[in-house]
Amino acid sequence: MFEEINNINIEVQNFQSKSLEEIDQFRISYLGKKGKITLLFNNFKLIPVEQKKEFGARLNILKSSALEKINLLKSSLKDHPKSKKTDTDYTIPGQPMNFGSRHPITLIRDRIINVFSHIGFSISEGPEVEDDWHNFTALNFPEEHPARDMQDTFFITDDIALRTHTSSVQVRVMENSKPPIRTISPGRVYRNEAISARAHCFFHQVEGLYIDKNVSFGDMKQTLLYFTKSLFGPDTKIRLRPSYFPFTEPSAEVDVSCTICSQKGCNVCKYSGWLEIMGCGMVDPNVLENCNINSNIYSGYAFGMGVERIAQLIYQVNDLRLYSENDLRFIKQFRSEI
Ligand code: DAH
Repeated sequence: MFEEINNINIEVQNFQSKSLEEIDQFRISYLGKKGKITLLFNNFKLIPVEQKKEFGARLNILKSSALEKINLLKSSLKDHPKSKKTDTDYTIPGQPMNFGSRHPITLIRDRIINVFSHIGFSISEGPEVEDDWHNFTALNFPEEHPARDMQDTFFITDDIALRTHTSSVQVRVMENSKPPIRTISPGRVYRNEAISARAHCFFHQVEGLYIDKNVSFGDMKQTLLYFTKSLFGPDTKIRLRPSYFPFTEPSAEVDVSCTICSQKGCNVCKYSGWLEIMGCGMVDPNVLENCNINSNIYSGYAFGMGVERIAQLIYQVNDLRLYSENDLRFIKQFRSEI
C-alpha cells in the first residue's frame, strides 16, 4: 500500500498537460469516485492499526499534492492560454519536407499544350458527361455506328453518356464562337472496355481544331509535323495513312518515326519503324453546318491524340494501368521539365 502511494505520487508529479480536457481527465482518474487516490482511501480499513496514522497522513499529502498540481496546471493555462507555441525550440534542425511530383499524364498533357500554345492555339474544355448531340450526332456519326452501342459507351440515360472522345468539345467551341478558331481541348474520356495493360475504361486525349477560310490539308500536315518535331525531337518524321472518321473527310492516321529504335526496328514499333499517335482530317462540311458554320466559306482540320499513348512512347511504360493506380513508387519517378 505504501509503495502504491509512492508510485501514484510519481505519476502525479510527472503529469504534464496544456489542455483543460486532459487536466480534467487526470482529476477524474485520480480523484474521481473511482479514481486511484480515492480507492486508496477506501482501503484505509484494511491497514493494520499501528500503520493507520502514517498511511492516513501520507494519503492526505498525496491528495493535496494532486489537487495542487491540478490547480497549478489550470492556472498556467489561464496565464498563457495559447502557450503551446512558447515551447518551440527554434534551434532544433527542421523536419525534411517531401517534394511532390506531377503525374506523368499531367506532364505530357502540359508539354502538348505548350507546343500548341506557341503557335496560337487557345485551350478549351467541355463536360465529361455529354449529350448525344455533342458526342455523336453533330459529329456525323451514323445511327448504326458501333460507338453508339452500350458495349462501347457508358450511357447514363438514352441521351446522356460519358464522353467517348474530346471531339465533343469541337462541337461546343464551333457552336459558341465564330471562325477563325484555333483551339486544343485536353480532357478525360471514357470507354466501356475491360481493363488490361493495353486498354482502360478511362484515359486522356488532346483534341485540336482549326477553322478559317482556305485551310488546307497541307496546313494540317505542316502543323502536325511541327508538333511531333517539338515533342519527340527535330529528326522525327511523320507519315499519314488514309483512314475513316465520321467527322472528317478525308481522314488520316498519323504515324511518327519510332522514337525508341530510330527506325532500326524494335518490338515497340513491331519492326515497322513507325508508331501511330493520332487521328486527323479535314472537318466534314456536315459537321460545320451542324454547328452553324457556313461550309462554303470556311474549312478546317481537326486532330485527336491519346495522352497515355504519347506518355508511353516518351517514358516507355508498357502497362496503361500504372497511370491510374497511384502507386507512389511509379509516380515519384517523373519530374517536371516545364
Ligand atoms: N475522336 C477520335 C478518337 O477518339 C480521334 C480523332 C480522329 C479526333 C480524327 C479528331 C480527328 O479530331 O479529326 O478516336
